[in-house]
Amino acid sequence: MEKSLIGKREFFEIHLNSDNQLNFVNIFGNDNPVHLEIGSGRGEFLIQKALDFPDINFLGVDKKEKRIKTMLRKLDLEKHKNVRLLRVLVDKNITNRIKANSLEKIYILHPDPWPKRKHHKHRLIQESFIDALSQILVLNGILEVATDHEEYANWIIKLFEDRTDFVSQFKGGFARTSQEGNIETYFDIKKRSEGFEPFFMKYEKIGKK
Ligand SMILES: C[S@@+](CC[C@H](N)C(=O)[O-])C[C@H]1O[C@@H](n2cnc3c(N)ncnc32)[C@H](O)[C@@H]1O
Repeated sequence: MEKSLIGKREFFEIHLNSDNQLNFVNIFGNDNPVHLEIGSGRGEFLIQKALDFPDINFLGVDKKEKRIKTMLRKLDLEKHKNVRLLRVLVDKNITNRIKANSLEKIYILHPDPWPKRKHHKHRLIQESFIDALSQILVLNGILEVATDHEEYANWIIKLFEDRTDFVSQFKGGFARTSQEGNIETYFDIKKRSEGFEPFFMKYEKIGKK
């Protein structure tokens, strides 16, 4: 670990050393609402949101150590006191780590699309994973998803159409234009430059499945 990141790592990174659930009050030192970003990548979204909303706690998760280090380099111990990072591969077992009804918002921006049919089983957004997200979101909590991959967008829209616990905030199930408060991520910019406009999805949890 680079010397310059050691203090930051101690402050910002959560370590999972047992099978306990995360205790957000202990982790953030307050009981402000918590927003989770899954697959934070280079952290543009998480870090800007944390600055814009100092009274909200932001937990950024990524499976890759390299991405965690990139975010640590960008984080400032004074400006980003409401951010924590966790390196973990997220799947439906996230419910073992995060208490039911404890998150106000979840963001998943440009999840890996696994375009080949035989790889679709690796996609993060599956029915059982949405069940898990439904469990950890508070009632009226929001899930925001963006993808530049049209077929994955349709896959996601279809999964949510069949659910009774979520309702789309967009007529027709998606939007193609940036919404208020949207922050461009590395993948937004990269994919737009290649000619792929993102699909934005936004769902409110309205009850139990
Ligand atoms: C395509 S990148 C998008 C990054 C960022 N959200 C953006 O829009 O630029 C996907 C990110 O999600 C992470 N990732 C993919 N699957 C994950 C999982 N199951 N759990 C945690 N992180 C994951 C990857 O390491 C990568 O950083």
